[in-house]
Amino acid sequence: MHKGIFITIEGPDGSGKSTQVSHIKGFLEKKGYEVLLTREPGGTGIGEKIRQILLDKDHKEMSATTETLLYAASRAQHVEQVIVPALREGKAVLCDRFVDSSIAYQGKGRGLGPEAVTDINKFATQGLEPDITILLDIDPEVGLNRAKATKGADRLEQEKLDFHRRVYEGYRVLAYMYPDRIKVIDATKTVKEISEEIENKLSSVVRKG
Ligand code: TYD
Repeated sequence: MHKGIFITIEGPDGSGKSTQVSHIKGFLEKKGYEVLLTREPGGTGIGEKIRQILLDKDHKEMSATTETLLYAASRAQHVEQVIVPALREGKAVLCDRFVDSSIAYQGKGRGLGPEAVTDINKFATQGLEPDITILLDIDPEVGLNRAKATKGADRLEQEKLDFHRRVYEGYRVLAYMYPDRIKVIDATKTVKEISEEIENKLSSVVRKG
């Protein structure tokens, strides 16, 4: 049991997560929370090194199993070193991607299957789950074009459109399976509209400011 709240934000590449993450941070601070903003893969010194291995364009030979375990390893370190201690201190932890990303990208995108990836991640997180997850919903093609236009493609973004369609499908299935936790937001709306919708969804888990 912990006193804080654990919020994750998910979505295909180019869904506009970064913009909304900073908005959510401000919203939570206004509500009186001390906010820890973090991301995956990464979030710790060890995790950032694992991130470099994962996103390196030269690592074309990386197997799907290795990829899955590296994401999970980064996550295990993150949970133990950063997330759980912050939650114990009563902070709001806002994490850019978490287990749902692995289920969508490795489970569906890479085809390892959601069950295996879920099991590996239960081990990695010791069963920690977000209190609420914001899923920014965008057509994979639109998202990819946005992502490429803003920062150039990393190893995962270079995957074919088919891969990203499977990732998207993975997210849709997750949203269907966990409607109480995962709140789907249409990411084609304006930044302001999206922020307002997110605030509405978060109202159910934040204390009154
Ligand atoms: P990043 O540059 O952080 O992408 P974004 O800004 O879209 O979040 O790169 C993270 C990449 O790693 C992204 O393509 C999604 C992928 N990923 C997985 O495949 N599995 C995972 O478990 C996580 C956390 C990310």
